[in-house]
Amino acid sequence: MERSVGIWGLGSALPEKILTNLDLEKMVDTSDEWIVSRTGIRERRIASKSVASSDLALEASEKALKSAGISAEDLDLIIVATVTPDMLFPSTACIIQAKLGAKKAAAFDLSAACSGFIYGLATATQFIRNGMYEHVLVVGVECLSKITDWEDRNTCVLFGDGAGAAVLGPVKEGKGFLSFDLGADGTGRDSLKLPAGGSRLPASLETVEQKMHYVSMNGQEVFKFAVRVMENATETALEKAGLTKEKIDLLVPHQANIRIIDYAAKRLGLSEDKVMVNLDKYGNMSSATIPIAMDEALQEGKIKDGDILLLVAFGGGLTWGSSVLKWGR
Ligand code: UT7
Repeated sequence: MERSVGIWGLGSALPEKILTNLDLEKMVDTSDEWIVSRTGIRERRIASKSVASSDLALEASEKALKSAGISAEDLDLIIVATVTPDMLFPSTACIIQAKLGAKKAAAFDLSAACSGFIYGLATATQFIRNGMYEHVLVVGVECLSKITDWEDRNTCVLFGDGAGAAVLGPVKEGKGFLSFDLGADGTGRDSLKLPAGGSRLPASLETVEQKMHYVSMNGQEVFKFAVRVMENATETALEKAGLTKEKIDLLVPHQANIRIIDYAAKRLGLSEDKVMVNLDKYGNMSSATIPIAMDEALQEGKIKDGDILLLVAFGGGLTWGSSVLKWGR
């Protein structure tokens, strides 16, 4: 029989440095009022020059292992979802495999932008469900500040840095992940991208001069896609789990824009206390938003044993992912 798979432990890590909207007012032509009313973001965390994604990922992973009550040597696989790896290769997963001392773990990075953590959870779940592995570490980490054009007000007010990690393992029947819905629409691939630095446009003087190593985004296109996805992907995940929206105890959405989150909450008929929001403090940290939001919700007592969680994300690719999770082991 297939095994049930769930989350054994969570951990997160955030850089200390806070960049407020008032700080941004001094850097680009923007205002606290514009940023708060259009996005809901008030401040974000920024990694220092010497900190890379693997550093934040390592801290979050150590905390997740501790909360799961297992050691790094018990891990069979490490999946890191990121669009800001330390370097193109080796994978950031291999870097933390070495630093954790997870000697028997296989390791790879996964690229699904802001949906990466949900893609990672779904991937890890298959390995455990079919009995191939017992314990899988899934990390969502980003240092978006390192690929942000700090002179572009369209993007620089949105992003932040952070890491969240989850240890997955077998759980009691009926608990854990009840469904996943993953999807992609590559026709929207130009709406959100990092144009240069890959094999299409290798780094050159020209690509640097043209600022092609920074995030390029068509905000309105992504917004329209996000609103559609929030509705469709949440409905599909609920349907696959055989549950109705009334059963949801907590919605943990990707933290990109409060207007997108409010829309999803309204469609699902959820009151404010059933929606996890922390983007005011951290901005959009891409793949890291959902694990960090879950970790905070757990620490704040917003998640209890047996609760039904609905996770949903959208992002570059374009991609989406959603999942229904019954909390507990
Ligand atoms: O994880 C996925 C990543 N991406 C997203 O989730 C992004 C989804 N999109 C969004 O969240 C929104 O589209 C944004 C927050 C990016 C933009 O909000 P919007 O309501 O779609 O604004 P807009 O792009 O239509 O811009 C409205 C105006 C423009 O001025 P004009 O042309 O009307 O004169 C912009 O130039 O706001 C201007 N603007 C700004 N003004 C002050 C754009 N950025 C700023 C800014 N400060 N930072």
